[in-house]
Amino acid sequence: MAGKIYLETFGCQMNVLDGDLILSRMMDQGYTTTDRRDEADVILFNTCSVRLHAEERALSNAGLLQNLKRRRPELVIGIVGCMAQNRRDELFRMLPHVQLVVGPRKMGAIPRLVEEIRRTGLRRIAVEDFDDEFIDGCDAVSARSTQFQAYVKAMEGCDLNCAFCIVPTTRGSETSRPPGRIVEEVRRLADRGTVEVTLLGQTVDSYGKGLKPAIDLGGLLRRVHEVPGIRRIRFITSHPSFVRPSLVEALRDLPKVCKYLHIPPQSGSDRILKAMRRGYAVEKYLRIADALRENVPGIELAADWIVGFPGESGEDFEESARMLERVRFQNSYVFKYSPRPGTDAAGLADDVSEEEKKRRNRTLLDLQDRISLEKNRARVGQRIEILVEGPSKTNSRRQTGRTDTHQIVNFEAGQDLRGRFVTVEITGATAHALAGRVD
Ligand code: SAH
Ligand code: F3S
Repeated sequence: MAGKIYLETFGCQMNVLDGDLILSRMMDQGYTTTDRRDEADVILFNTCSVRLHAEERALSNAGLLQNLKRRRPELVIGIVGCMAQNRRDELFRMLPHVQLVVGPRKMGAIPRLVEEIRRTGLRRIAVEDFDDEFIDGCDAVSARSTQFQAYVKAMEGCDLNCAFCIVPTTRGSETSRPPGRIVEEVRRLADRGTVEVTLLGQTVDSYGKGLKPAIDLGGLLRRVHEVPGIRRIRFITSHPSFVRPSLVEALRDLPKVCKYLHIPPQSGSDRILKAMRRGYAVEKYLRIADALRENVPGIELAADWIVGFPGESGEDFEESARMLERVRFQNSYVFKYSPRPGTDAAGLADDVSEEEKKRRNRTLLDLQDRISLEKNRARVGQRIEILVEGPSKTNSRRQTGRTDTHQIVNFEAGQDLRGRFVTVEITGATAHALAGRVD
């Protein structure tokens, strides 16, 4: 009973990979993909719950399909991923035309559930009993968004309990994939032309928990490093508590491991970090950042910040700004605090006004832009190897690539160099990108 599937993904890189996995499983059943909702037999929204705004976007997209479903009653519309886990059967009440709700750890069941709905016309929901079938089978990705760059799941879930975060609820507890499976997957990818892999996990640097024989992220990086054909290895996202000496050594010693660490501080105030239950103080974070800079020449750091967490005073916020300036991150992702039901912080008054959150958000971004611009300008004149990602979105004569440290480089080229490594001379800089010239 196969047909056409339309899938739209919201949120993080893990969701992008899950989206590819879902499509692969559906294609195994004979489905083909479409980017037109009106010709699809199955429409799935692969959702994010980290902030209310992310949920609202998916809800309004799914809401718009009421008429399409009325015209084509046989169409199956599903909501899968984190919001499915978070809102469960509430989604059926909010959106009566939705028939499928599947959480992140049940996604392996999607093909079977879709067939059941198409056969019986009845709703299906799978959000109970986290199982690891989808993680175990996650190397079977045939539908990759790109061929030369690939995401690879290292672990799934999170055992921490940050007061603001819904991820441990939606993705369950931490489960690491055995290193042999990961290396095997990377090997297969390399055979098909992949040159860059990004290992994914919610706290990827705690990789290895529960595995026997013992291994940590440093050890995994060493094993992936041996795979011929792979030229760059990235990993996201790291938590400050798990940056161990073996990881620092891997960053220092393994040339394929990109010298770039996304390691969210969230706040620069000890009082707020404590309320967030992040498990470290500013001083400890700074020690880690300094050790990384000392041991890994050229390393760049990236940050996530939450502004307007309950009780964040003007002075607490200033401390975040000072920390940003002190660590000199290469880039910062700044989020306005959004209370998530069921998290511990949801019990606290959301007492920073939306206007003030916006102001703090803008202030951090402006500060980061100034630092990024200074850092980028310092690169002008350097010759840097980049991996070309393809034509720029705004100008097809222009190609876009990335440095080892994840900076974007735009340059003119007569041909599409996607997937190739080229050396460019940096000729210009803005806060968000470098301009380069190939010789
Ligand atoms: N370690 C996880 C973090 C997931 S959430 C991972 O990268 O997989 C990504 C970022 O969203 C967090 O680092 C945090 O800065 C932000 N975030 C999480 N919960 C939030 C909330 N309730 N409000 C605003 N931002 C939030
Ligand atoms: Fe969320 Fe904190 Fe884990 S941000 S994913 S609970 S490390």
